[in-house]
Amino acid sequence: MSLQGKKIIVGISGGIAAYKTLSLIRLLISNGAQVKVICTQNALQFVTVLTIESLSQNNVYYDTFGSRQMATEHVSHADWGDLFIVAPATANIIGKMAHGIADDALSTTLLTFRKHILIAPAMNVNMFENPVLQDNLQLLIKRGTVVLDPEYGFLACGTCGKGRMPEPETLLEAVRNALAGGDTAVMSQTNGILRGKKILVTAGATVENIDPVRYISNHSSGQMGVAIADKFAASGADVTLLLGKAQYKPQNSSVRVVETPTAELMHNAATKEWERTDVAVLAAAVADYRPAEIAASKIKKSGQTLTLQLEKTPDILAALGKSKHKGQTLIGFALETDNEVANAKKKLSEKNADVIVLNSLRDEGAGFNVQTNKVSFITSNSIEALPLKSKNEIANDIVRLVAERVK
Ligand code: CTP
Repeated sequence: MSLQGKKIIVGISGGIAAYKTLSLIRLLISNGAQVKVICTQNALQFVTVLTIESLSQNNVYYDTFGSRQMATEHVSHADWGDLFIVAPATANIIGKMAHGIADDALSTTLLTFRKHILIAPAMNVNMFENPVLQDNLQLLIKRGTVVLDPEYGFLACGTCGKGRMPEPETLLEAVRNALAGGDTAVMSQTNGILRGKKILVTAGATVENIDPVRYISNHSSGQMGVAIADKFAASGADVTLLLGKAQYKPQNSSVRVVETPTAELMHNAATKEWERTDVAVLAAAVADYRPAEIAASKIKKSGQTLTLQLEKTPDILAALGKSKHKGQTLIGFALETDNEVANAKKKLSEKNADVIVLNSLRDEGAGFNVQTNKVSFITSNSIEALPLKSKNEIANDIVRLVAERVK
């Protein structure tokens, strides 16, 4: 997405990572955005007014009562901007934002600003993990501020841990995303409700071996399930993805991927994870049957026909439904060709799921190997039929549905 014509306010507070914010300003400008920078006095210990003004092509606002600025500049800045990103955000500015303190140019403008706010905390790991800071972040998240998680690595204080500000390119991506209503927006729309929740997702097709060279599988590409894993990760959840054969891989590096090529392996991994899982979304196309025996060597061609003995695979959804405890949410998928709603309702109750995401192969644009899908959310007392949407949008809808239920 181009940032042409977008008005971005960059807030800089006093941390060493401020030097990286200079690159962010350049990136924003070169992508077509207009940029105004608001600094704390301490930020100017790390970067100079001259550098920022040269890069942003605008005056820097840092002194509420400075001679060259109007006294209401915090209001005009706040009205001007489409998005506000504070990078780096120190523990001090986070504390002020969380508690409504407005005692300088940056905090006063932040309090006046009512659109997208993104913050990129950057500090020493002990400071970051301090419950005071974490509580303040939770307060902000609840109010819709998007917190861009700091990264692990070497910190300026010489220690190693979580606290590094993400690279300017990552921040640029987050800005783009927020303005496009994408992943960053998911995070603010789910208001941090899913932050830290344990989410288990299955995706892709399972592969059931016949002999060393042949197998039974299906056309699932894994796109839907992988998108779901990515969107949950974007909402701040802790995501484990059990992945069968798939043409897609998660984009979000925080998704923990466990390769589970067969129904048996997926079942074993899912039942092991389930106990400490808050929400499971089973989007994998699991084979219902597998060869009763896997031939040790390649089956040679012989008669006119060949009969394979198949046996049932474990039903993962049913297994999780059986041991589901209070507070857990279980979501299954159903791909039906006829009696769609009735079949989906039957699956819902027989497998003790909370929601079945129903898609019908009869709907144009739905099913395997297309970018779109048309689904309905079936619960024990409701049916919500969604229009044809991209799989990414449906993944967003599933995340929002879960956030609603968890709330
Ligand atoms: N599923 C599963 N384990 C299986 C088979 C299916 O966990 N061995 C899950 C799928 O991931 C999906 C849901 O069950 O979430 C429904 O899958 P589907 O194949 O449509 O349902 P089945 O119960 O297998 O019924 P049928 O094939 O007869 O429609």
